[in-house]
Amino acid sequence: MRRRMYAGNWKMNFLPEDAAKNAAEFRNKIQTMNAAEIVLCVPYVSLKPVMNALEGSVIKVGAQNMHYEEKGAFTGEISGEMLKAMGVTHVLIGHSERRQYFGETDESVNLKVLKALELDITPILCVGESQEQRNLNITNEVLRLQVNHALQKVYTKDMERVVIAYEPIWAIGTGEVAEPKDAEKACKYIRTVIKNKYGDNIANNTTILYGGSVDENNASDLFAELNIDGGLVGGASMKPSFSKLINNGIRASTTKGDDYY
Ligand code: PGA
Repeated sequence: MRRRMYAGNWKMNFLPEDAAKNAAEFRNKIQTMNAAEIVLCVPYVSLKPVMNALEGSVIKVGAQNMHYEEKGAFTGEISGEMLKAMGVTHVLIGHSERRQYFGETDESVNLKVLKALELDITPILCVGESQEQRNLNITNEVLRLQVNHALQKVYTKDMERVVIAYEPIWAIGTGEVAEPKDAEKACKYIRTVIKNKYGDNIANNTTILYGGSVDENNASDLFAELNIDGGLVGGASMKPSFSKLINNGIRASTTKGDDYY
């Protein structure tokens, strides 16, 4: 049994007041839904306003990054402890934009995953190949290395709390969504990597998301795939139609049977 999840990644968008307004509007459309875990990952300065806007609803609030040290001389950084103190429940780790523009490495990703788990914050670990790696046909190799590196020293008992998001870099923000069969293949492969490391049971219980140009039109086909348990959504999560995207995804995934709780 594994969880379905839909996470919005608002990236560096919305002033706090607008973020709160957007979250409140989203909440009105989503309130009664409990077929999937729903998370909005918002900029640090919008965490509190969005939490206030969502108070009492099923929607969780996540951050988009965190430092792995508790405190210290790391100007401009935010620690997991600080997020925890604010009531943050989820955090994106290793998003490709952080790897690409901010020097995030497999090592720092690993340290952040471990720290998030220690603090009982759900890490949403992002992995995915670049266009160049895709052309070279080394997607599986890249995914295997990224996943194994990120999960070093993550014990079996903690693994159930790790969510993995497969986000091919070439599909992020480009409008070029992966073919459902290709996304399924990659997510299935990630599950095999988990299985080799942690066994069948953990692999079957791990939530694996797809991200990269998901919208309300392609959601049904993507989320009907067996090994895709939901989505990490950027651009489309900032639109009023995000709730429709989630509905479409959930409706499509219920055809997969009762592997979920
Ligand atoms: P996108 O972004 O949906 O805009 O492609 C996804 C992400 O960056 O998580």
